[in-house]
Amino acid sequence: MSINRNISQSKKDNKNILREIFQDSAEIDYSTFINFALYNKDYGFYSNKKRMLMADFITSPLTHKSFGIMVAKQIAQIWDYYKNPKHFSVIELGGSTGKLKDDIVSYIKKYNRKFYRSLIYLNIDATNNDSLLDIDFNSKYGCIISNEFFDALPFDRFQKRGGSLKEIFIKKNEKNDLVEVLRDSNKTNILEQKIIAKIPEESRIEITNNLKEICNKLSSFLDHCVMLTIDYGFEDLDHLLINNPNGLVRCFAGHNMDKDILSNIGNKDITCDVNFHFLDHYLESAGFKKIGFCLQEKFLQNMGIANYFNSTKNPIEKQQIVSLMNPDGLGGFKVYFHELCSKNFDPQGLNQ
Ligand SMILES: C[S@@+](CC[C@H](N)C(=O)[O-])C[C@H]1O[C@@H](n2cnc3c(N)ncnc32)[C@H](O)[C@@H]1O
Repeated sequence: MSINRNISQSKKDNKNILREIFQDSAEIDYSTFINFALYNKDYGFYSNKKRMLMADFITSPLTHKSFGIMVAKQIAQIWDYYKNPKHFSVIELGGSTGKLKDDIVSYIKKYNRKFYRSLIYLNIDATNNDSLLDIDFNSKYGCIISNEFFDALPFDRFQKRGGSLKEIFIKKNEKNDLVEVLRDSNKTNILEQKIIAKIPEESRIEITNNLKEICNKLSSFLDHCVMLTIDYGFEDLDHLLINNPNGLVRCFAGHNMDKDILSNIGNKDITCDVNFHFLDHYLESAGFKKIGFCLQEKFLQNMGIANYFNSTKNPIEKQQIVSLMNPDGLGGFKVYFHELCSKNFDPQGLNQ
């Protein structure tokens, strides 16, 4: 199969981009392509420091500080659960420029000085040149938090053809257009044959690259740890793999959405719904146990956002808080709790 796509970019950039992308191989998988398009130091979407914050999409920490405050209250409960250890590490995955960190730390500093003195905060982000899999860190107690980290990880793409799942690779044709080719692949081990059999012919699916290695790495950071994961996505394999023939890929540029990953390289965010079934599988294999999950709307309610809302007089801020709760938007995100080795923690965010 081959699909032609034009790349709308300056000719010079385009030539350089294609030369770099294909410098080691004439054919590359999607995760290599996406990794370049998002994180290449010269051309990557996330590496472009000139891009205005919030120009392409908005996330919960950027929407209003009450989000960070509610997460801070949840973290304080984890510190209490571990009986207020002298050293407590918060490891944030993909914290970007540190907005969530600032809101969490300011809240803890103001309202819980004892906790503040024990707090160690690590914001691990690819755009700060952090390489998650190479980080060597270990501490006894803490938590791992993330907002929209797993949806930003590069993924590979597959298509059902002739009864089996083939991997989609990308190459250049003689006109310098990018074309796709299907090849046999050994990257679909996580899928049982009975699931593959249910995927309709020609349907496309995505599988996050390196998820197993990432989950194993996360389990090495802390001896006792609760993990709080906030993101969009699904657990239901029928939804993720069977009922969406074009897959769940989306690209965002200037608040517009399209599904064409191969065009305008480096100028748009590329994302897909998190497969919470796979994430849970790899976290469990790495020693985490799932406590449960709820929607962000419910989590924020449980953490007391209504009090914050009522104490705020500013109508713009009130509107921003409402956006965090909107079930058709950020409020519909999933908030997952896992705990390393046991599942005794009873998060306030899940129950009220
Ligand atoms: C969608 S943004 C979310 C940013 C921030 N958490 C927020 O909610 O505003 C995803 C972030 O994850 C980071 N990221 C993606 N892959 C990463 C990796 N392997 N290691 C560390 N950070 C990564 C990106 O650089 C980016 O800042």
